[in-house]
Amino acid sequence: MVTDNVDLDIDGIAGEGERAIAGARSTEALSRVETELFGKRSALTRAHRTLGGLDPEARKEAGRRLNEVRTRLEAQVAARRSELGEAERAEALRADRLDLTEVIPDRVLSPPARGHLHLVTQARTELEDVFVGMGFTVAEGPEAESDWYNFEALNMPPAHPARGMYDTMYLDLGEPETVLLRTHTSPVQIHLMEEAVHDDSLPIHVVVPGKCFRLDTPDARHLPVFNQIEGLVVDRGITFGDLAGTIQVFTEAYFGPGMQSRLRPAYFPFTEPSAEFEITCTLCMGEGCRTCSHTGWIELGGCGMVDPAVFAAVGIDADEWSGFAFGFGIDRLAQMRHEIPDMRSFLENDIRFLSQF
Ligand code: PHE
Repeated sequence: MVTDNVDLDIDGIAGEGERAIAGARSTEALSRVETELFGKRSALTRAHRTLGGLDPEARKEAGRRLNEVRTRLEAQVAARRSELGEAERAEALRADRLDLTEVIPDRVLSPPARGHLHLVTQARTELEDVFVGMGFTVAEGPEAESDWYNFEALNMPPAHPARGMYDTMYLDLGEPETVLLRTHTSPVQIHLMEEAVHDDSLPIHVVVPGKCFRLDTPDARHLPVFNQIEGLVVDRGITFGDLAGTIQVFTEAYFGPGMQSRLRPAYFPFTEPSAEFEITCTLCMGEGCRTCSHTGWIELGGCGMVDPAVFAAVGIDADEWSGFAFGFGIDRLAQMRHEIPDMRSFLENDIRFLSQF
């Protein structure tokens, strides 16, 4: 009887074990099955214990079969464990997967918006291009100047009434010399002519863009910090006709064909004769409108033939050399060209305004 029982048990144990292993749906469940199959209270262990009640021959045979079943079940558990483990890892990977495109907001992932140059800087670069195309080179000069460069060498001795045109900001640097923020780019004329005399490198055909400073209250057409571009030509036989021609060529190159320029008598201490130059009003194309006070013309800047007193100040022989100079506001130009009502918009850093250009 005992032998039969053991016999029956072995097949039953094997079959049940195999079903339990195959039925485990997770590694955790499989661990429980494992304890049930091989633990102290398992059918297998209990069957081992009954072996003692058998005759030696039957015990040996039953023991061998029980070990065989145990080994087989252990192998099946191991195989099932790796199978389940793999499935669980795959599932964990799927569940824990972090899609950064879902977590990080669009604005971080999309390429950063690229800025562009400020409208005034664009205007400056375009102007440089136009003048370079006409044979000029581009130079720069210091923004802080001595009284000599900003005024005196430009034929404006101390107390000269023309200084009144330039509401000047002075710097207190504790130096004996008066230092100021240049009120126009004309002092660079002096630097360039001094250098050319020093290097014996006349003639000069140069334009000079740069910041200028005047103690003006900001309004629609004035900023205390603004930009000018200066032109200076010093050569043999230069006439007022060269000046007028240069300005007309520039006007058409920058504003487009058909745009006219004209010169009207004016006064600047450092040019003689002097003129204001005007161009066709860009708003009404010469028809006459409120912006041009119904004249059809808009004033752009000043110009004239280099005054012999200026040549004398830098040591250029006015009998051998002559020249012309001009200067105008870059901010004004950009304002006109883009019909910007108020110049203060340039400095308010409102991206909605700036990004339009
Ligand atoms: N520097 C003058 C101004 O700012 C303009 C100018 C330049 C006039 C060159 C004549 C010649 O008012």
